[in-house]
Parts: sequence; C-alpha cells; structure tokens
Amino acid sequence: MSDYSALPVPPMSIRFDQAAGTLSPAGPTLTRRMSDLEGLFRDQNSWRTAVADGDPIVYSVVSSPVPEIDRELPQSITTIHPGTTGGEFWMTKGHQHPNHQGEIYLGMSGNGGLLMFDGKDTRWVDMAPGTIGYIPPGWAHRSVNVGSEPYSFLAVYPGGAGHDYSWVLENGLGQRVWRQDDGLAFVDYFAEV
Ligand code: F6R
Ligand code: ZN
Repeated sequence: MSDYSALPVPPMSIRFDQAAGTLSPAGPTLTRRMSDLEGLFRDQNSWRTAVADGDPIVYSVVSSPVPEIDRELPQSITTIHPGTTGGEFWMTKGHQHPNHQGEIYLGMSGNGGLLMFDGKDTRWVDMAPGTIGYIPPGWAHRSVNVGSEPYSFLAVYPGGAGHDYSWVLENGLGQRVWRQDDGLAFVDYFAEV
C-alpha cells in the first residue's frame, strides 16, 4: 500500500448544476457581501453607502467536499454578480497563496477577468466560457466581473497552498479595473481618482 492509502475522500464524481449554482456532493459554501470587502474598493464612500444600502451579495463560492490539505486538489465555483462600486467593477477580495503553488481557473459563464500581481508586474487575462486562466506560483490573484451577467468560473488548486488575504491589503494588485463607457479601463492600484 502506498502512503496515499488513507484517503480523506474516495474517488468520486461531483456534479455541478449551472442553473442552481450548486455542487453535489457539496463542501462549504461561502457568501461574500459588500461589508466583507472592507478596504478593497478605491472609493470608500461609495463602499460605505453600498453597505448601508442593503449590503448586497457580491459573490459566492461553492466548494466540493475535497479538503484543503496537502496533496489534495480542492475545487470551487465562484459566481460574481454584475455591478460597480464608485465605478470599480465588482470583484473578489483577492489573495496570495503563502505556500506558493500554481492554480487554474476555467471560465464557465459570463465575462470576467483574472488580475494577477507578483509584487512588481501585473497581468490581466480575459475570461470567458472555455478559457483556462493559469496562475503561476507567487502571483496574487483577484477575479473581476466586467459584464452585465453573473460571471462564474471553476478553480482547482493545491490543498496545501493556503490563502493570505492580508497580502493584498498591504501590497494591492498592481491595477484596478473600472467601467469606462461600454468597456473597461485600468488604473494604478494606489492612484488617487
Ligand atoms: C482558490 C481561489 C478561488 C477564490 C475564490 C474567491 O485558491 O483562488 O477559489 O478563493 O474565487 O476569491 P477570494 O478567495 O479572493 O475571496
Ligand atoms: Zn487562489
């Protein structure tokens, strides 16, 4: 027997219901409201107004039962609702994997993008259904909905990678993504607007 014999979860198939946004069997589900994104939108007054004005759900993350432990490959589906706050497109909090490892995203519905920052350089990958976005080890990442429909994608990542949210609060993500006319524009993360 190999040292893989004591499996936390058995081999399995996991079904995703696109219409319901559920995984079966399911692991944890996370709902992020506007109030959970404190300190992340550039326009803090607009953020405060949105929190006071109903504190809308910005995104949700449904996970499979595969645990976040070393050598496992957990998966989750994130759905970001369409919207802007102070002109900045709705987005995930963004994080760095402290135990630097790669990750892949697969676009499932809607139009979004993947913003990556290694502390010096910034990269943007347009995400649409069927696009695979690759996040190399050491690149912090945030997803942004740049469309008018919900944007959903599948993430697959090493279970031992960990998630550091304070890194983004301290270092930013290089750029921010704003609605401009019918399209989008990028501005420096810490620039005054
Ligand atoms: C996992 C991963 C995604 C995000 C999800 C929510 O490593 O990158 O599953 O966790 O899109 O974004 P955050 O975690 O930044 O709130
Ligand atoms: Zn990640």
